[in-house]
Amino acid sequence: MLGREAKVEYKVIKADRRMTKTNEPYYVLELLDANQTKYEARIWNDVIPGIQERFLPQEGQYWGSVKSHDNVYRGQKQLVIDGYWVYKPEEIHAAVKEQFVEQPVIDVDRVIKRMFDWEFWEPDMYALMQRVREHLKQDGVWEKIKAIPAGASYHHNVRGGFLLHIDEMLDLSGGLCRTEASFGREDKGMIVNGPVHYLGLIDYQILRAGIVLHDIGKIYDYDEKTLYFQPNPISDCLEHTLVGVLMVERYWIKNSSEAVDRGLRLMHALAAHHGPEMGAVKPKTPEAIILHHLDMISAHLDVCRRAYEDAKKNGGSTEYSRMLGARPFVPGFFPPEQSIYALRKEPDKKAATEEVVTKDEFAGKLPWEV
Ligand SMILES: [Fe+2]
Ligand SMILES: [Fe+2]
Repeated sequence: MLGREAKVEYKVIKADRRMTKTNEPYYVLELLDANQTKYEARIWNDVIPGIQERFLPQEGQYWGSVKSHDNVYRGQKQLVIDGYWVYKPEEIHAAVKEQFVEQPVIDVDRVIKRMFDWEFWEPDMYALMQRVREHLKQDGVWEKIKAIPAGASYHHNVRGGFLLHIDEMLDLSGGLCRTEASFGREDKGMIVNGPVHYLGLIDYQILRAGIVLHDIGKIYDYDEKTLYFQPNPISDCLEHTLVGVLMVERYWIKNSSEAVDRGLRLMHALAAHHGPEMGAVKPKTPEAIILHHLDMISAHLDVCRRAYEDAKKNGGSTEYSRMLGARPFVPGFFPPEQSIYALRKEPDKKAATEEVVTKDEFAGKLPWEV
């Protein structure tokens, strides 16, 4: 039997204890409510001394009776916590706990199937995918694929963000590589080699395998619970770009000279996916060039999507993005009177009428005839 009913308002998803410049502790928090809305929150040092040691913020706590006020920091809305009650886990009904489980942003099983069990994989590619999956299972990291973000802060930094990023790139590649003849035939039309003007130039199997495996090394990089980056020797030494390359080198079937060539092209696309500016290898093949650009499109659009969400909450203002090197402009960024479209308004009717009369009256006359 439960005692009084636990009225849970937030679950603490992340709780980071930090120090101010004057060496006083404060907390940077991420809270989740029962509607799956996340909140950035802070507890400042003026509140902390009033909290008993065992009730200090910790990941996984359930809070009720929360007292807070809003603050805007660098254009970002934050909750500033002034007080809260911590429930003991046994005080909370399982059904209530269920409401506070953070859900991935995407149907994870659908995307995993689309990646590894695509029905049009050629036999060698299919074998490669199954071997990679087996490898990750043996390493005990496979299940993390459902939770990890694609980035810690730059892009797709949400539960399931990694799969969302791959899903977007697969969609984009499908649109790019369908031939005219295959339009309207859905997935079946995707076993083609590029748009109609470039037939034969792009090996779609390589491009698609590149999309599936380009960030696979990130599975070692993130903690599936906190979604934080976790330092590890693989990414310290090789970065995630090369983890996929190693897997292809190890598991690709080299049964002919043509197969060796395709394996190499796939490895090149993976190694070069960070592009000419940021990567150690510059993209040199059509698949590598496309892979790099699709990666960028998906990542940059995610920055805009988050800015759009923030702008809706914060009255139009957006935050500087390190990835874009700029503050994103999103719909609603400019109030209507400042919009460039305001300059293109129809001239008002009265002025237009006066202009016509003037023209008609003096048309074709010399100055001294007027
Ligand atoms: Fe990457
Ligand atoms: Fe990526």
